[in-house]
Amino acid sequence: MPPSKPVAVFCSDLDGTLLGRPDSVAHFRRHWDSLGENQPLLVYSTGRLIEDAIQKINQSGLPTPDYYIGGVGTVIYHPASETTLSEFSAVLDQDWNRDEVHRIATSFDGIEEQPPEQQHAWKSSWFWHDATPDDLELLRKAIANASLSAQVIYSSARDLDILPHSANKGNALRWLCQLRGINLDQAIVAGDTGNDSSMFLVPGVRGIVPGNAEPELIQAVLNANAFLAGSECTDGVIEGLQYHGVFEPTTDQSTPT
Ligand code: GLC
Repeated sequence: MPPSKPVAVFCSDLDGTLLGRPDSVAHFRRHWDSLGENQPLLVYSTGRLIEDAIQKINQSGLPTPDYYIGGVGTVIYHPASETTLSEFSAVLDQDWNRDEVHRIATSFDGIEEQPPEQQHAWKSSWFWHDATPDDLELLRKAIANASLSAQVIYSSARDLDILPHSANKGNALRWLCQLRGINLDQAIVAGDTGNDSSMFLVPGVRGIVPGNAEPELIQAVLNANAFLAGSECTDGVIEGLQYHGVFEPTTDQSTPT
């Protein structure tokens, strides 16, 4: 049986998760709107930078969230006040040397820089096709040998993000929960690739893994409290929110009552 703790925050990845099934967005929206005053805080956590994420959401038909966590957990934005939470970004500056990270990444064969619009002060992003665990370990060692504490996050057998040690989606969610006075066991998260794994590993959270999730994510959350949905993307998220008791079970809308 799913645990019955009240849910105070729902934090979901976008691409391949909430955004993956455009035809099901209206279905999600109906469920979400029907929660009325019982809606948990809604947070979208994405690898996209904030402006890009806002544009995508405005076109999607999904509800406007209470917060965006952008750039793989490197920026937190509050749309109602149009404010970036600079207190969070200040934490990221500690021990972070972007130029040095750049120098190390370019010294590896097969690593190619992502376009400038994917980069910002606390996010150094690259493509590295089919990097093996040994490749990633070598990169981590090179970073440690340079006395940097940056973290390496690998997603979709292609995307490589090198971030300050206090960043990532899980740490950003923890920071936000603390800001809002929310216990971590009142959080539900959803995501499908490697950059989402840190959210599932936050102690106490409940997770939703849609059916299309990458093997790297499934492997990383084996010991986490995560529900593996049968359906994909948006449909998988709806299934998971039903499992966790946030959404009502779906009734067949085609049957007259
Ligand atoms: C998004 C970002 C990209 C990042 C990837 C994985 O696609 O645009 O920069 O590498 O997510 O985190």
